[in-house]
Amino acid sequence: MTSDDSFTLLLEYMERELEFITSHYNDSYLDRRITARMRRTDCDDYREYLEHVRNDPDEQTSLLDSLSINVTGFFRNPGVWDGIREVLRTLSQSQRRIDIWSAACADGREPYSLSMLVHDDPGIDESAVSILATDISRDALEVARRGEYADSRTTDLSDELSYLPDFRQYVDYDSTAGTYRIDDRITDLVSFERHDLISGASKSGFDLVTCRNLFIYIDTDHKESMIRTISDSLREDGYFVIGKSETIPPGLKSIFSPSDNRNRIYRKVDDNS
Ligand SMILES: C[S@@+](CC[C@H](N)C(=O)[O-])C[C@H]1O[C@@H](n2cnc3c(N)ncnc32)[C@H](O)[C@@H]1O
Repeated sequence: MTSDDSFTLLLEYMERELEFITSHYNDSYLDRRITARMRRTDCDDYREYLEHVRNDPDEQTSLLDSLSINVTGFFRNPGVWDGIREVLRTLSQSQRRIDIWSAACADGREPYSLSMLVHDDPGIDESAVSILATDISRDALEVARRGEYADSRTTDLSDELSYLPDFRQYVDYDSTAGTYRIDDRITDLVSFERHDLISGASKSGFDLVTCRNLFIYIDTDHKESMIRTISDSLREDGYFVIGKSETIPPGLKSIFSPSDNRNRIYRKVDDNS
C-alpha cells in the first residue's frame, strides 16, 4: 500500500468513526497536524498511526483536539482593528442601524472586541449596533455565552485587551480566580447562534461581516461557497473582513472591491452573475 493510500484510509476512518469532516479542510493542513501526532506517538507512517489511533481512545481525543482550529484572541491583529474602527465610524455617519455578523466567532473574543470597540469610540453610536456571532462549534459557543475567560500558559488576556487603553471598564477582573468577566453592557449587544458556513443558509442585511482565520484551513471549493454565503448576507456596499493572511479567491474578485487592502477589508459590489 502506498503512503497516499494509507493517508486516505486514515482520513476515511476520521470521517466515519470520529465524525470529523476531513473533506472540508485542505490536505496539507491535515497532514501537518497528523504528522505532529505521529511524532508524539512514535509512529513511523500513516498505517501504523491508523492502527494506533483505532485502539487508543485517548489518542482519538488528542487527534481531534489538535485539529480543532480554535485559536483566537481579543483584538487579534491589532492593526486590523484600526481598519474596523474606521468602517464602523463611516457606518455610524449614516444614522441608521448597523448590523454586524462575526462569523466563525470561536469562543466569543472577536464579537466582544467589536462590542467593546463600539462602546469605546465616541464616533460610533453603540445604540444603533447589534452583533450576531456564530460558529459551528457548540463547545466554543458555550464558552462564548458564558463570557468569562482566564489567562493560560499561552494567553495573556490583559495584553490582548490593551488595544483599548481603558479596557478595565468593560471587564471585571477577579484576582482570586484569575478570570476576566465581560461586562453586561458589552455582552448585551451580542447574540450567539450556531451556524455552519458550509451547509448553512445565507443571512441578509448585514453592514459588516467578519470571517477571519477560517479560510486558511478550508479547501478552495468550500471556501468559495462560504464566501458566496457571506456575500449574499451583506447589503450592497457592505463590508467584509477576512484574516490577515487570507485572500479572496480569483473567481470571486468581481463581487468584492478592496476597501483597505492592508487590513484585508473589502466591500460588496453589485453582482449580476
Ligand atoms: C481559528 S478560529 C477563528 C476565530 C476568530 N474569527 C479569529 O480570527 O480569532 C476558526 C473558527 O472557525 C470555526 N469553524 C470551523 N468550520 C466552520 C464552519 N464550517 N462554519 C462556521 N464556523 C466554522 C471553528 O469552530 C473555529 O472556532
